[in-house]
Amino acid sequence: MIYEKIGAPLCSRLNNEYALLAAAKNDGSYNFMTVSWGGFGILWGKEVCFVFVRPERHTYSFCESTDIFTLSFFGDERHADLLKCGRVSGKSIDKAKEYGFEVSCENSTLKFGDAKLTLTLKKLYAQDISEECFFDRSLLSNYKNSGYHRMYVCELTCADKK
Ligand SMILES: Cc1cc2nc3c(=O)[nH]c(=O)nc-3n(C[C@H](O)[C@H](O)[C@H](O)COP(=O)(O)O)c2cc1C
Repeated sequence: MIYEKIGAPLCSRLNNEYALLAAAKNDGSYNFMTVSWGGFGILWGKEVCFVFVRPERHTYSFCESTDIFTLSFFGDERHADLLKCGRVSGKSIDKAKEYGFEVSCENSTLKFGDAKLTLTLKKLYAQDISEECFFDRSLLSNYKNSGYHRMYVCELTCADKK
């Protein structure tokens, strides 16, 4: 990957290690899921992170109901659990309980006890990916059986590194 060559560690980590995208509602309920698509950059003069969430994900409704997300990176020992969190839905199981994640929530910010890096993200902008905007039509194969992602552009407001 080009990012690996030029030394863009967070993009490489997202692609190789994955991360948990988590959001909480006002009533204290929360959900999280594994993500590996996204990016980091500068937009509107701010340090931003882009994440992409399909509408059928349980996490989607949580992302819609709050302005604060977290993106958490873990060590190798959690890689298998992150894969599992990318295959099962919070609609049917309590992933935190099932995989032993210690979760805390303060000011709508959901954190995992054993995360090595927690990025707090503030939602700035959201837009749905749309079929007519693709220049490379071959990429539409990503949308044969599932919905168009909603792209969230978020400001990086805090980085908590252990
Ligand atoms: C490695 C990996 C990466 C994933 N990346 C994304 C992503 O970037 N966006 C997305 O919408 N779903 C992604 N998924 C799928 C969700 O994590 C998966 O559908 C999950 O079960 C949704 O959980 P939920 O229904 O509790 O929200 C990924 C899955 C895996 C295994």
